[in-house]
Amino acid sequence: FQIPTPQNEPVKEYRPGSPERKAIQQALAEARNQEVNIPMYIGAEEVYTDNRIRMAPPHDHQHTLGHFSEGDASHVQQAIDAALAAKENWASLPWEHRAGIFLKAAELIAGPYRATINAATMLGQSKNVFQAEIDSACELIDFLRFNVQYAAEIYSQQPKSSPGVWNRLEYRPLEGFVFALTPFNFTAIAGNLPTSAALLGNTVVWKPAYTQVYSAHVIMKVLKEAGLPDGVINLIYVDGPVAGEIIFNHPDFAGIHFTGSTKVFQEIWKTIGQNIHKYKTYPRIVGETGGKDFVLAHGSANAEEVATALVRGAFEYQGQKCSAASRAYIPASLWPEVEQVLQKQLKSIKMGGTEDLTNFVNAVIDERAFDKIAQYIGRAKQDPGVSVIAGGNCDKSKGYFVEPTVLRVDDPKYQTMCEEIFGPVLSVYVFEDDRFEEVVQLVNTTSPYALTGSIFSKDRYVIDQVDKLLKNAAGNFYINDKPTGAVVGQQPFGGARASGTNDKAGSYLNLLRWVSARTIKETF
Ligand code: NAD
Ligand code: ALA
Repeated sequence: FQIPTPQNEPVKEYRPGSPERKAIQQALAEARNQEVNIPMYIGAEEVYTDNRIRMAPPHDHQHTLGHFSEGDASHVQQAIDAALAAKENWASLPWEHRAGIFLKAAELIAGPYRATINAATMLGQSKNVFQAEIDSACELIDFLRFNVQYAAEIYSQQPKSSPGVWNRLEYRPLEGFVFALTPFNFTAIAGNLPTSAALLGNTVVWKPAYTQVYSAHVIMKVLKEAGLPDGVINLIYVDGPVAGEIIFNHPDFAGIHFTGSTKVFQEIWKTIGQNIHKYKTYPRIVGETGGKDFVLAHGSANAEEVATALVRGAFEYQGQKCSAASRAYIPASLWPEVEQVLQKQLKSIKMGGTEDLTNFVNAVIDERAFDKIAQYIGRAKQDPGVSVIAGGNCDKSKGYFVEPTVLRVDDPKYQTMCEEIFGPVLSVYVFEDDRFEEVVQLVNTTSPYALTGSIFSKDRYVIDQVDKLLKNAAGNFYINDKPTGAVVGQQPFGGARASGTNDKAGSYLNLLRWVSARTIKETF
């Protein structure tokens, strides 16, 4: 049979007066006022507990959106049991029937649930309507659709046979259950991690970040409506270390699909290593982690294009993208014009709640993130080697607002050039044009990460040279474009070094990690 050829979901524009704008405004109004009560989903049960955690929009933290039920160690065990109980039926279901569920889920998000999931992301994670549309709607739809094609490609790969011998590869799911541990910043990633493993016949325990529970709940409702059998994906809200203690000690732990910070992933890897003798099989360890993503400009670049890429790359979703431009290297010949355009564009940016669709910048995710970002900015203000070119103000009285901030640093290895801040802070190092080659080396050696990066130049020899020299500095490399906004099916996404195992979300490379092939030789 032929599977449907996947198409990227067209991005809606939310123009004034458009039906999608009316729909999102209505969904926002409803979501703000309905005070949802969100359960965990374990097997066939919707589980409510007495430990109800309050949810609030990061841009309006006194407003209550609703509550979710927090679980404890017993719920982790129940979720594992449910995943293991569902495994045999799910794994033996012909894969096209599994695919049918996820393709239906994509259509539900594209249609009746689009405004609901966007509103949940806008309110729960403080993402503006355009960022919510490309993330929680389009990218999640794309993951669901394209993964089906990648699965079909994997299942169709077979070895050669010869007269009298028939060789076959059977793509079994992993033996045990998969743990999906997901971050707050992309609804699509949170949805992709459990569903991609499940598509290949695995059953899953899914623990999202507490700050993403609202949209995670919408994803689960969609999957249930699409026909996902009970126990295939079990959604629990349990403190990370509490969940880890049970999961990483379990003999049936077969793999982790993680996206989040480098620090947490490294701790998890160590724990898995220490427990390796306890498992029935070597677990798959797949993790996409932090970034310190660069924009490098050459003197031949167009200054306005560089400045626009910096504004979009550094400040969309308040810089809370793993791919966000956070360190820039600009030649002195280009800097005056880049700075002028940066200043002009930043002056026109509005900051505020996501309910006002004209706000470009919203709040950072929570108080902990706010305090960390404010500390970086505070230290930079005190440092004689740093000039605050734009922004620099922070206010958490109503929401966790941090102005888009541009720091010009004298030292290319200043703290904010090296460490992931995960907020709207861009550091710029201006260099003399004739030091370009030395600066390329700096880009390569300044941070332990290697997620995304951009080169801006009109000179093809320069582009080629940088492409070669920075081969290991970014898993996703952009030529004359911002380093954010990878599209599923077009730019498979992931980084190496401290940025992850580079298993390329949105490609067959990722899905390959969720099967364990069996070779069968039959002799006639
Ligand atoms: P995080 O590491 O704080 O949390 C990720 C998940 O791990 C959450 O569900 C969290 O509750 C859980 N967790 C935290 N500590 C744990 C522990 N000790 N044991 C078990 N689970 C634990 O990350 P975050 O703040 O949600 O997301 C931001 C980070 O994710 C940034 O570093 C960003 O660069 C990274 N990220 C990377 C990519 C990528 O593709 N490379 C994409 C998105 C986000
Ligand atoms: N896919 C996201 C981006 O490229 C992380 O920005």
